[in-house]
Amino acid sequence: MISARQVVQQILAGRESQPGKRAAAYAPANIALVKYWGKRDEALNLPVTGSLSISLGPLGSHVELGRSEGAADAVWLNGKPLAADSSFAKRAGAYLDLFRPSVDFHFELQARNTVPTAAGFASSASGFAALAKAVDGLFGWGLAARELSILARLGSGSAARSLEEGFVEWHAGKAPDGMDSFAERMEAEWPELRVGAVVLCSAEKPIGSREGMKRSVETCEFYREWPGRVAQDLVALKAAIAAKDFAALGAVAEGNALAMHALMAATRPPIVYALPETVAAMRKIWAARESGLALWFTMDAGPNVKLLFEARDEARVREIFPGVEVVAPFG
Ligand code: PMV
Repeated sequence: MISARQVVQQILAGRESQPGKRAAAYAPANIALVKYWGKRDEALNLPVTGSLSISLGPLGSHVELGRSEGAADAVWLNGKPLAADSSFAKRAGAYLDLFRPSVDFHFELQARNTVPTAAGFASSASGFAALAKAVDGLFGWGLAARELSILARLGSGSAARSLEEGFVEWHAGKAPDGMDSFAERMEAEWPELRVGAVVLCSAEKPIGSREGMKRSVETCEFYREWPGRVAQDLVALKAAIAAKDFAALGAVAEGNALAMHALMAATRPPIVYALPETVAAMRKIWAARESGLALWFTMDAGPNVKLLFEARDEARVREIFPGVEVVAPFG
């Protein structure tokens, strides 16, 4: 088994560390249109399948990193100092351990999310992607995009996709050390594309993605169908993007999300993130589509629904979902 520390050493081999005073970085959040659900390596966050996401432009994480003169790491989130035993500080500290030059080197980390915490978009992807960039900036390594994607993945799988804007494909890779498991931006632009966050519940989810996907891989009898389904969906989604065929994009994304949630439901014990409000929102979307509106959805490991539509339909979408938070991924 290869450890995350070994991967970091491999990437940094032959590079000089010249720690500067501070480094700042930003990374966008992302939402997968073809999902990642299941790892082939837990320690390195290596996925069973590839996935494809859209980055959320101005919604993401700003990180500032420097050396702390104190006796321990100092971590701030959205302007507030965090207790060392808070889950965010612990997760960030464990990640920074991978890069700590010596035990007496402590970091000062300021993280600020522009992803509204309650909007139902995950901030861990943008957070770890921004942190990987900030570490690279602080030590002056000048790593390539591919290497930064690999380093971000060690923090959280989906963070591999948050180094770039636009459509981003994460290649599953085959290598045991994961050097071929990184994400890349696709050429395509789609300025009219909109993503809408419909917040139905902002309570903490009952089971996190790490534990949930592990349980699905181990106990869901349909899991063996998933890699084939993802492979098909990736081909169909890339064709839809190339042809700028919105109905095809929506159909693949919605179908893929529902297939992932079906896997979750067939996991033992079952994982069901949907609430009655989630199902009601789905029915509204399907009814709107029946009446001719080009509206689709996707959802992650939680009860909130993310709408997919094009700019020309924004007013109609807002009539159906008055509280929707709309993002234009291509600005
Ligand atoms: O990177 P994680 O461990 O937060 O997992 C993300 C899992 C999903 O959001 C459900 C799917 C995805 O591809 O982002």
